[in-house]
Amino acid sequence: LRARLTVDPGRPVGPVSRRLFGAFVEHMGRGVYGGIHEPGHPQADEEGFRGDVIDLVREMGVTTVRYPGGNFVSGFRWEDGVGPRDQRPVRLNLAWHSTETNEVGLHEFASWLEKVGAELMLALNLGTRGTLEALDLLEYANVPAGTTLAQQRVRNGRVQPFDVRMWCLGNEMDGPWQLGQMPADDYGKLAARTAKAMRQLDPGLELVACGSSSAAMPTFGEWERTVLTHAYDDVDFISCHAYYEEKDGDLGSFLASATDMDRFIESVVATADHVKAVRGSGKTMQVSFDEWNVWYLSRVPADLATGIDDWPLAPVLSEEPYTVADGVVVGSLLMSLIRHADRVTSASIAQLVNVIAPIAAEPGGPAWRKSTFFPFATTSRLARGVALPVRVDGPGYDTARYGEVPLVDAAVTADDGAAALFLVNRSQTEEVEVSVDLAPLALGTVAEALTLSDPDPHAANTTDRQDCVGLRPNARAAVVDGTLRVTLPPVSWTAVSLC
Ligand code: AHR
Repeated sequence: LRARLTVDPGRPVGPVSRRLFGAFVEHMGRGVYGGIHEPGHPQADEEGFRGDVIDLVREMGVTTVRYPGGNFVSGFRWEDGVGPRDQRPVRLNLAWHSTETNEVGLHEFASWLEKVGAELMLALNLGTRGTLEALDLLEYANVPAGTTLAQQRVRNGRVQPFDVRMWCLGNEMDGPWQLGQMPADDYGKLAARTAKAMRQLDPGLELVACGSSSAAMPTFGEWERTVLTHAYDDVDFISCHAYYEEKDGDLGSFLASATDMDRFIESVVATADHVKAVRGSGKTMQVSFDEWNVWYLSRVPADLATGIDDWPLAPVLSEEPYTVADGVVVGSLLMSLIRHADRVTSASIAQLVNVIAPIAAEPGGPAWRKSTFFPFATTSRLARGVALPVRVDGPGYDTARYGEVPLVDAAVTADDGAAALFLVNRSQTEEVEVSVDLAPLALGTVAEALTLSDPDPHAANTTDRQDCVGLRPNARAAVVDGTLRVTLPPVSWTAVSLC
């Protein structure tokens, strides 16, 4: 099979924000305790953070980390996580039916972020708390000195403010599972009031209002319209969350998940622009896709503890094995984000270590990369400059979930004498030869061509075989007479960098 790509450098979509390569760390399962933090591990540093995990997060090119939830945040008192460790309360984590020791809180997490070189995106509890507690946390985090809360931070060991720029105004407030779930009208008013109050303290903040917790929610669309009608002038971003899984063996639909993500983003953008028009606003709302990934969510209920006497500490939850097909889908979801770079300017793969994660950390043992690690790390490394529009002319196939979709999916970025092409072949049986006329890009050399594929799309790295799947150089990528030709194996993700 063959496909032809046409790239148009004359009309860039928009700059690719480095914040597209964010991640999410929640107090859930073994994400924090036994994930990033394992005192006593041979590779743990003086603060108990695993050096091998830090190295992998750095290698992955993670730029921003959303913390500490997720559903967890809606029952969290931020004060529990600061101050002398031996005086911190032990609480119930109601979202994930477990015990929270508060050993890791704001100070420790900020210190970990300095080690990994990423920015903090802090989520507020607007489920069981409100504007006043949000202001307290903001004062504690960002006011340099002179108030009781700022002085408390200094006494707790942090003289310089944390200076957190990005704040999430709650989490998934439309979800029936969320502590403090509320109707859109109530949430929109709360988000607007909290945002206004926060800006009175620190005008330069970047604030994210909760959008729907998925495009499948019954209130999707109307939720965004209502929330933004109240909060449009006060926030900078509306959030999107989406998780995909292969259901009932329907690999064809699963491989087309980015089609759904494209539609999701375009619907949210259309809704935000409708509110903009109605309000006659000069401001354009951005999208923070602050939870996205492949997640076998349907398996979660069976893994959760139940009962008033059973609140495990850091239980094993959603430690997805991640196959090559999962990695290909993660690669294509990143391509969807890049294609919408003009409006999606922040995103977080959910999550980072152990829980729904590209990085596995064995207790007392090694840390290693799952299949999804590779497209993320490579896209973060190569997708620079601006996103370019790309047309794909090639075969399609029929899916049960999304109808007819193209077999080849593509995204292109370009930056000062270099470009990167990201390509997916969704065919389960056929190779596809992709050709691209490079004249418009004025580039002619393949610097690097890497492919994630395997004869078995369900192959995965495991504790025993940690290097079973990964990126291999694609030897079938070459420029001939100004045209790039690259062959994509079935169920594969490929990155080609050009100079
Ligand atoms: O990432 C896991 C969970 O998924 C988060 O806590 C929640 O926000 C979403 O439903």
